[in-house]
Amino acid sequence: MFKLTGKKAVVTGGGSGIGKAISIVFARQGAEVHIIELQKDAAAQTLTEIEAEGGRAYSHTCDVSKQGQVKEVFEAIGALDILINNAGIAHVGNLEKTSEEDMDRIYQVNVKGAYNCLQAAVAGMKQNGSGAILNLASIASHVGIPDRFAYTMSKGAIHAMTMSVAKDYLGANIRCNSVSPARVHTPFVDGFIAKNYPGKEEEMFEKLSKTQPIGRMAKPEEVAALALFLCSDEAGFITGCDYPIDGGFIRLNN
Ligand SMILES: NC(=O)c1ccc[n+]([C@@H]2O[C@H](COP(=O)([O-])OP(=O)(O)OC[C@H]3O[C@@H](n4cnc5c(N)ncnc54)[C@H](O)[C@@H]3O)[C@@H](O)[C@H]2O)c1
Repeated sequence: MFKLTGKKAVVTGGGSGIGKAISIVFARQGAEVHIIELQKDAAAQTLTEIEAEGGRAYSHTCDVSKQGQVKEVFEAIGALDILINNAGIAHVGNLEKTSEEDMDRIYQVNVKGAYNCLQAAVAGMKQNGSGAILNLASIASHVGIPDRFAYTMSKGAIHAMTMSVAKDYLGANIRCNSVSPARVHTPFVDGFIAKNYPGKEEEMFEKLSKTQPIGRMAKPEEVAALALFLCSDEAGFITGCDYPIDGGFIRLNN
């Protein structure tokens, strides 16, 4: 079960964290993985790990927020079977602490970047007669998280775009779903703690771990396992759904 043999998958942001874990697991299951990354060296590291296991992967240096670059890369890759819209950036601040520049930056990467990749991917999927898309949403798509105004805006948009694409491409046999993780222990989280709570890293790590009722953060590999299921043929009846992977955050925090 859950084999991806003969499938071509694109993973954005596959150089780090969740995207890296997804790239490794998908290659292990037989997919040809194409990583779209801003950071060339990070993507190269993922490639090295995949190739060491005998998997097949390629990296494409590209900024997902730039439509021209995205179109060029997708044309070079050719028709694909799976798209993982994972590349994303964070911002801490409530409405009043979110500058116009912050708002635009988060929109450009998290929202427009996903739109660029979705648009570039569906043409090839239509050509193939099928496709599976998975977007990285967040618990912030569903519940109020303190001091995450711009990030929440972007993840709400991801959830809404997922439903729109799922509906419009039913006839093209393209499934589109999203996952909503609570905190996952990745460089994204470490970087955010180091930047915002210098000198209090350990204390903050503990605090953030305990915001999940299960008492810890998720591992990137746990998100990758859910991504694998949702993009596999075994999940052929699932579209237009969002899956929380949150240690009980949304429903058990009371
Ligand atoms: N880590 C968490 O706690 C968490 C929780 C919920 C949702 N998410 C979402 O999961 C996704 C991945 O998060 P992560 O924690 O693995 O992050 P990460 O920072 O570890 O990795 C993100 C990767 O995306 C790449 N990237 C950023 N901007 C890009 C751009 N413009 N073009 C191409 N690549 C770009 C980065 O270079 C990086 O390698 C994000 O969308 C994030 O919002 C993360």
